[in-house]
Amino acid sequence: MAIAIITGASSGIGHRFAQEIQKTKEVDGFLLIARRRQRLAALAEGLPNATVLEADLATEAGIEAVRAWLSENTPQVRYLINAAGYGVFGDYTQVSERDTVGMIDLNIKATVLLSHMVIPYMIPGSNLLEVGSASVFTPLPGFNIYASTKAFVYHYAQALAYEVRDKGIRVTVFCPGWVKTEFFDRAETEKSEGPRVKKPMLTVEYAVGCAMRAMKKGKILCACNWYTKMQHLFSKILPNCIPIAIWRGMLKK
Ligand SMILES: NC(=O)c1ccc[n+]([C@@H]2O[C@H](COP(=O)([O-])OP(=O)(O)OC[C@H]3O[C@@H](n4cnc5c(N)ncnc54)[C@H](OP(=O)(O)O)[C@@H]3O)[C@@H](O)[C@H]2O)c1
Repeated sequence: MAIAIITGASSGIGHRFAQEIQKTKEVDGFLLIARRRQRLAALAEGLPNATVLEADLATEAGIEAVRAWLSENTPQVRYLINAAGYGVFGDYTQVSERDTVGMIDLNIKATVLLSHMVIPYMIPGSNLLEVGSASVFTPLPGFNIYASTKAFVYHYAQALAYEVRDKGIRVTVFCPGWVKTEFFDRAETEKSEGPRVKKPMLTVEYAVGCAMRAMKKGKILCACNWYTKMQHLFSKILPNCIPIAIWRGMLKK
């Protein structure tokens, strides 16, 4: 029996991945991880053999709960989707210390620890997807900590792809632009709402569809739509000061 493990499955991108992976019929079960148990339970009702694991992955206890589940159940893993993550808009005076550390703990630490923990259970032909962001391509004042955590994920995933290739595991880093999810409920605060223009805003169906196709093709980078592909290209040929100036222009009120 092969399963899919999905973090951040209680909403948005992770939730959609569960539904898309179910359609492939490549797995017989799911491990759904997030903090909101009820949301996970509702999703699990529509999936075969789905186990719900309520865990705060920004904490050691949350990470250890996943480790314990793995050693108890010794699953064969066909997909690992690391979608749990969050961002908060604002500069270093506007983002609280709690969120600064929280983003590092969840977006970086949990992503790395979970990947390393699950890889020994992954079968040849399996896919590991790390959720990055279009913010990986340029340093972003006013979204610095989030963008920097995702830049870590971007580099980490690409190197990991080569480290696990011999095991028949394909690693993809998914870097979409803005996607219509609950992400912004947490990202926008009284202190900062981020850029005025958040377009083009992708639907979660479109974004996850791109990622599923990229995984099938064994692509290491999924930049999703033309806009993000242009951002990627420009980040390679332009000095950083140009995209940073464009971004800062979008922030100014
Ligand atoms: N939306 C965008 O524009 C966008 C663009 C690029 C990349 N991304 C990335 O995509 C990923 C998914 O975000 P989304 O857009 O789908 O936002 P979302 O709807 O807010 O989903 C975030 C998911 O992460 C989980 N999560 C948050 N904190 C957690 C914690 N401490 N422990 C365990 N799980 C936690 C949430 O579940 P609980 O609250 O139930 O714990 C939720 O399931 C994130 O990594 C985000 O950075 C989003």
